[in-house]
Amino acid sequence: MARIFSGIKPSGQLQVGNYLGAMRNWVREQNRDALYCVVDLHALTEDADPAEVRHGSLEVAVGLLAVGLDPEVCTIFVQSHVPEHTRLSWLLECVVTYGELSRMTQFKDKSKRGDVVRGGLLTYPVLMAADIFLYDTEVVPVGDDQRQHMELARLLAERFNNRFGETFVVPEAMVPTYAARVMDLQDPTRKMSKSVLSPQGTVDMFDDADVIARKVRRAVTDTDGEVRWDRDAKPGVANLLEILAALGDEDPKSVAARYETYGQLKDDVATALIETLTPIKARRDELLADPATVRTLLARGAERAREMASVTYARAASAIGLLEP
Ligand code: AMP
Ligand code: TRP
Repeated sequence: MARIFSGIKPSGQLQVGNYLGAMRNWVREQNRDALYCVVDLHALTEDADPAEVRHGSLEVAVGLLAVGLDPEVCTIFVQSHVPEHTRLSWLLECVVTYGELSRMTQFKDKSKRGDVVRGGLLTYPVLMAADIFLYDTEVVPVGDDQRQHMELARLLAERFNNRFGETFVVPEAMVPTYAARVMDLQDPTRKMSKSVLSPQGTVDMFDDADVIARKVRRAVTDTDGEVRWDRDAKPGVANLLEILAALGDEDPKSVAARYETYGQLKDDVATALIETLTPIKARRDELLADPATVRTLLARGAERAREMASVTYARAASAIGLLEP
């Protein structure tokens, strides 16, 4: 059984891109010896407010449970509760090069946005590689934006193994065929994101039904009026088609064939989103009412994760030449 691992940052509200690009697939894969991590340390690279990080971690954990992850089946935990993540990250920082890190697209984009570029933003993908390696992960279900980070992780595992002996499993990314990059409804050339301020272009997973319907109805399309799946020429329409296709496990071309007008397409996208998200929101509200139970689950998850992580960390530390304590 292939070991599965993935992570999500507790920054901002969970949005439909997180659901279709990642979380939904995590539920499907949860039986495969899976671990899912709320990566709070990664959220610190984004100038986050302390209270928001703390509350966000609990909210995201609740979101993971609400979409259908079962803590009896998979392991759900918070990254900072397992100290081996940062310990292994340091070892890997001494394996990666500055050139490799500074070439990462996400680093280049994010460092352009603010005037301060912190060290953590640069070394972010190394911590991600550590997250993955600690659990001998074979498969990492992520959205399209993580492909480059996954390539770097593979490179680091291979380099470490070549230099210090077989230590890490070389992981593979698992990216969904459709809706791997859900685009902003107001600017379909840009990825939908919980950290970018585009409230009208971002459908939050827990938006009320009328808000979802309004955002979808106002989605930017184009003027030629033909419902056709063409990501380059018709990014807005293609995005709506992919969302609907992903929700119904279809392909966007056959979905397109059913529609004559953008209005009909939008109505059905809104209905499908509302049908999927309403029960998730209801479970989330129930879970949020009992945070103590969620924290107990997270503590149990961290304990399980730590048992595995400490074995891998010790193996890596020994391979790289650290004296055993
Ligand atoms: P993040 O919120 O950046 O921690 O992302 C968590 C997961 O959601 C990662 O696997 C991302 O690739 C995925 N994700 C985030 N935004 C999108 C999007 N707009 N479309 C598809 N997947 C996404
Ligand atoms: N970098 C990922 C993102 O921005 C989050 C993440 C951190 C992650 N560690 C991970 C994803 C390990 C998969 C595996 O979405």
